[in-house]
Amino acid sequence: MTITLNSPLDMHLHLRDGEMLKTVAPLSSHSFAGAIIMPNLVPPITSIEALLEYKSRILSSTCRDRFEPLMTLFFRDDYSYEFLKEAKKEISALKLYPSGITTNSEGGVSSMDIEGLRDVFEAMSELEIPLLVHGETNGFVMDREKEFVSVYEQFAKNFPRLKIVMEHITTKESAELLGRYENLYATITLHHLYITLDDVAGGLLRPHLFCKPIAKRAEDRDALLDLALSAHPKVMFGSDSAPHPIDKKESCGCAAGVFTAPIALQALASLFEKNDNLQNLQAFVSENAREIYGCEPLSKEVTLEKTPFLVPDSYGGVVPMFAGEELDWSIKSVS
Ligand code: NCD
Ligand code: ZN
Repeated sequence: MTITLNSPLDMHLHLRDGEMLKTVAPLSSHSFAGAIIMPNLVPPITSIEALLEYKSRILSSTCRDRFEPLMTLFFRDDYSYEFLKEAKKEISALKLYPSGITTNSEGGVSSMDIEGLRDVFEAMSELEIPLLVHGETNGFVMDREKEFVSVYEQFAKNFPRLKIVMEHITTKESAELLGRYENLYATITLHHLYITLDDVAGGLLRPHLFCKPIAKRAEDRDALLDLALSAHPKVMFGSDSAPHPIDKKESCGCAAGVFTAPIALQALASLFEKNDNLQNLQAFVSENAREIYGCEPLSKEVTLEKTPFLVPDSYGGVVPMFAGEELDWSIKSVS
């Protein structure tokens, strides 16, 4: 059995910089035609100059493949209309992080009060720049995303022309929100379709499955599965593949992030096939994103086949999800 995907896209990806960028970028560019690149470097990407330099480093790390990095700026509440108008030519979106909520988000927004965000949100609405949001409060870890629902509602109601993407949703409450506001969309990761908190911490602690937002309950995962497997038109695949060196994961202060880029399409094919929804995979990994972002990806055909794939223990010192395990789908060819 095979399936050929047309220009798969990863709409939420961390590529890092320096040596890590050189290690991980080719693993995405091999099988994806493009990706939304997260700006949470140290320091974060907040200027057009830094963004263009980063983009050229990405392009030199992926030069053997046809791959388009879709760049984003780290959201700041003091960006001017003029700045955003210039930035618009180079970016696909702005990414908003509540301050300190996840890896390298210290320079994020400290209050979600819409009065302080109004000017930038209005400029973005006018310029048609999508807003990508890491939607968590700093409350109890299992409730952080649920507590953010009221913030999403305020954003969506007050700025109806602003396209808002709830990034890496993990709860049934977020899934339900999609139906209530026309301007809300979402990305869903691979790992949140597979795991619950039990897989992370129910037995021996699995640091390579620890991420923000943390995986939730079975009913939450099932709500995400319903959206993904039916390729709900408001959801897109965004891996949130977030590489950290092995010593930062297998440590007493484990960094948050699951590394899935090189195994994502194989594991998605397996999941969709097991659930008899292989025919919806193309929309989930490409068509929906094209529609939502209004983008035309580079052409790339990725053929997957139902042949076992032994996931390596590590890719250059970064441990992937399913390390050492066998997936039943593999990549046959890319053209
Ligand atoms: C991401 C990272 O490592 O940059 N970590 C994660 O757990 N997902 C940041 C993020 O997307 O929250
Ligand atoms: Zn992320």
